[in-house]
Amino acid sequence: MNREIRMTELLQKARNYEEEQEAQAAPESRPLFHFSPRIGWTNDPNGFSWYNGQYHLFYQYYPYDTHWGPMHWGHAVSGDLLHWTYLPAALAPDQPYDAQGCFSGSALELPDGRHLLIYTGVQKGMDKMSMAGAPCRDLQMQCLAVGDGIEYEKYSGNPVIASADLPEGASPNDFRDPKIWRGDDGIYRCVVGSYAEEGAGQILLFTSGDAFHWSYKKVLACNENRYGTMWECPDFFVLDKKGVLITSPQDMEADGLEFSSGGRTLCLIGSYEEESDTFCEESAQCIDYGIDFYAPQTTLAPDGRRIMIGWMANWHTCGMRRTERPWFGQMTLPRELSIRNGRLIQQPVRELEQLRGNPVACEHVRVGEPVRLAGLGGRSIDMELTVRPADERQMYQKFALRFAADTRHFVELNYRPQEALAELDRTHCGSRHAMVHQCRCRVADQGGLLNMRIILDRYSAEVFFNDGEQVMTITFETDQAADGMEFLAVGDVFMDVVKFDLQRMEKE
Ligand code: FRU
Repeated sequence: MNREIRMTELLQKARNYEEEQEAQAAPESRPLFHFSPRIGWTNDPNGFSWYNGQYHLFYQYYPYDTHWGPMHWGHAVSGDLLHWTYLPAALAPDQPYDAQGCFSGSALELPDGRHLLIYTGVQKGMDKMSMAGAPCRDLQMQCLAVGDGIEYEKYSGNPVIASADLPEGASPNDFRDPKIWRGDDGIYRCVVGSYAEEGAGQILLFTSGDAFHWSYKKVLACNENRYGTMWECPDFFVLDKKGVLITSPQDMEADGLEFSSGGRTLCLIGSYEEESDTFCEESAQCIDYGIDFYAPQTTLAPDGRRIMIGWMANWHTCGMRRTERPWFGQMTLPRELSIRNGRLIQQPVRELEQLRGNPVACEHVRVGEPVRLAGLGGRSIDMELTVRPADERQMYQKFALRFAADTRHFVELNYRPQEALAELDRTHCGSRHAMVHQCRCRVADQGGLLNMRIILDRYSAEVFFNDGEQVMTITFETDQAADGMEFLAVGDVFMDVVKFDLQRMEKE
């Protein structure tokens, strides 16, 4: 009984803290329409779901510091995926089986109208010693909480998927991030990231008739020594008649321009047969070629759209910052997914268009020497840009757009048609760290013609190339006063551009 009270206190403490401290995070210090934590730290999006007429977004949350700590689940709701209202923290690490943290997971609505959360409980492994006498690593297991959209109660039968349910060779220490859905056949399914003892990432599939009692079914997909080591944060869904597996592999090795080293995101597309749960991989691609994108999760909107949101940061650089802000971590713009020509296509959610105002359009502008154009600039904007060679017989060498610019600083987006290479470069954004500042990707070469949609929200840029065939996301901490924009080209380019300011819709 005592233990119960202490545990409840942990959640109460977090709720009191976030309520008291929220005012420290001035709205001016936050992005306008990208989600940021109520206070303190966030990493992965969790439990992204439509429930009771709203989108619910939970998030890996440590309210007490701007660095990672014992994980709670923060909580927010939104009607349009862009304006979020904070709700009290939903989960605290207050049980013996999750005392080291309530790690990532997902949510769905049960047939009786309750909201089900499934997450990874991390249990301290210190009480047992390994053969070598070293403390054992923490154990990871899958747990449930049931609620009404505000209050969630952890299930008395937790953990519902534990070490004993693992197939041979799968590590009980790296077994996390359950993503749950209900199949067309009414069976609940859950994919979980796993690490086989011999060092390969894999995705395990579990099934259940009632979402409370689970059994192991199979390895849905595995790494086969490609694509990093442990596969974190899996998601699996059917999209445009294809099976799509997304995951965030740790320790990726660079592979051409498709994958760069570090923690990156992977999308496998293939055939899927529900009855036997057979997924046959047909193609693999990186999801976002930028620097700040990890742990994406999807949900189905009531109108049938598959919407993805990711953590707009990465583990390798998130410690390198000079911000005094009392919060850290943002989510990407929610993106609508589809498949075109075997590729995952991403578009900003269409709701964003309602935030557009003050259009400035320029057509057929000749770009060569650096030029600034009246009305083009800003740090919270949605801009569509098309470039093409001014003379088709003479291909230009490079087109560049510099934004978030003042006399010393800028972030550069450039395109080199001869190599069909796009690049984002934040070298001059004011960073004082020796960290990755550039990212590149190949885009489809169409004789020097390229369209881009660039979304800036104070401290981030998301660039969608050729209607979402490739996406690149980066963050930067440049002072907000740096809101200039400049265009330049090596060679001659014609450009069409339309820019909108993005504005929050204030409540009436
Ligand atoms: C991914 C991740 C997950 C884990 C969570 C912990 O970013 O490492 O695998 O559940 O973060 O905060």
